[in-house]
Amino acid sequence: MSLTHLSLGDFRNIEAISLEPSPDINVIIGANGSGKTSLLEAIYFLSHGKSFRTNKHKLLIRHEQTRCAVHAKKQHLSLSIPVGIGKDTSGETSLRIQGQSSRKVSELAQLIPVQVITPESYDLFFGGPKERRKFMDLGVFHVEHEFFQEWKDFNKVLKQRNALLKLRPNNYAEQIQYWDKEFVRLAEKINKHREEYISRFTAHFFDKIVNKIPVFSGLELRYDEGWKESLADALKHQFQRDTKLGYTSKGPHKADFSFYIHGHSVESILSRGQLKLLLYALKIAQNSLIESETDKQSILLIDDLPSELGEETMQHVSVLLSQCQSQLFITAITAESISAVVEPMKRELRMFHVKHGSLITK
Ligand SMILES: Nc1ncnc2c1ncn2[C@@H]1O[C@H](COP(=O)(O)OP(=O)(O)O)[C@@H](O)[C@H]1O
Ligand SMILES: [Mg+2]
Repeated sequence: MSLTHLSLGDFRNIEAISLEPSPDINVIIGANGSGKTSLLEAIYFLSHGKSFRTNKHKLLIRHEQTRCAVHAKKQHLSLSIPVGIGKDTSGETSLRIQGQSSRKVSELAQLIPVQVITPESYDLFFGGPKERRKFMDLGVFHVEHEFFQEWKDFNKVLKQRNALLKLRPNNYAEQIQYWDKEFVRLAEKINKHREEYISRFTAHFFDKIVNKIPVFSGLELRYDEGWKESLADALKHQFQRDTKLGYTSKGPHKADFSFYIHGHSVESILSRGQLKLLLYALKIAQNSLIESETDKQSILLIDDLPSELGEETMQHVSVLLSQCQSQLFITAITAESISAVVEPMKRELRMFHVKHGSLITK
């Protein structure tokens, strides 16, 4: 169910490497600038069709080359499915799944659920709704088949509505009224999927994790759909304001999924170390929920794990990771710095050393 083979070509500073990862834990060790994050980025790229570091696809292609590519074999039940993705300097993406070319990154994404935690994740996640919405939607995407199409259709309508609000052609008010029916119809579908998912996620998260970690006592998860009253009324009431703003201020594109302890936001209560632990806990719980609701094994990428974790947080993280079923790829500068996390885990470990974009054998 995991990636059993991975190869990269002309990806960032990596000219060509191939590896056979462990289905359990993979640790990537190397000095700064050796290519550790690039390796994680390549796995993320395989599932998301883009990077977690940049929107500029050209940065992924090795300097002076014209195309980067990532290939893998994904074990699924008794099948080994070859998958691949490439991108050239013009931005053209090519995909292959089981020897067939495909045009939809979503097909590859469906096959390989990948989440990432980097040293920047905490600020992004607790700093604003965008990352939290992304987190929630990744889960919904993997367990609710219709969600992706609804979300795509909704975004088309939203774009249309925003263009009318910005350009204000003669009859824009009537045109907006026309679009609003579809806007509301799709918004309610999206909301229903999210609501159902969050309710299952919350039960799973408390059962598997929160109830076992005392610092999380009093934790509450809140889902905000992105509007109050009925959405049709909210759109009418906001019309003047939206016209001034030039965009739509209510709807599922404003939804949030946030965390409180005894009624206060977690950012104002928990220490930085505890917030980090919460983020690990959320991502691990989400992977395990996807695994229990589908037949997929998910992947968790953790960049620079030891960099900012204190000893106590490290111990908690180690326990959480040893209980999770995901295939892990963890980077660190030295093997010593990560031994406290990985050694207590009773899972199969493989270690890879990178230097100047190449794998070295030690
Ligand atoms: N498109 C590219 N082509 C070649 N080298 C690159 C490209 N993008 C980044 N690099 C270089 O790749 C190296 C590895 O980066 P990174 O994966 O972030 O290293 P690490 O995570 O090990 O510190 C850096 O030295 C960076 O300058
Ligand atoms: Mg790095």
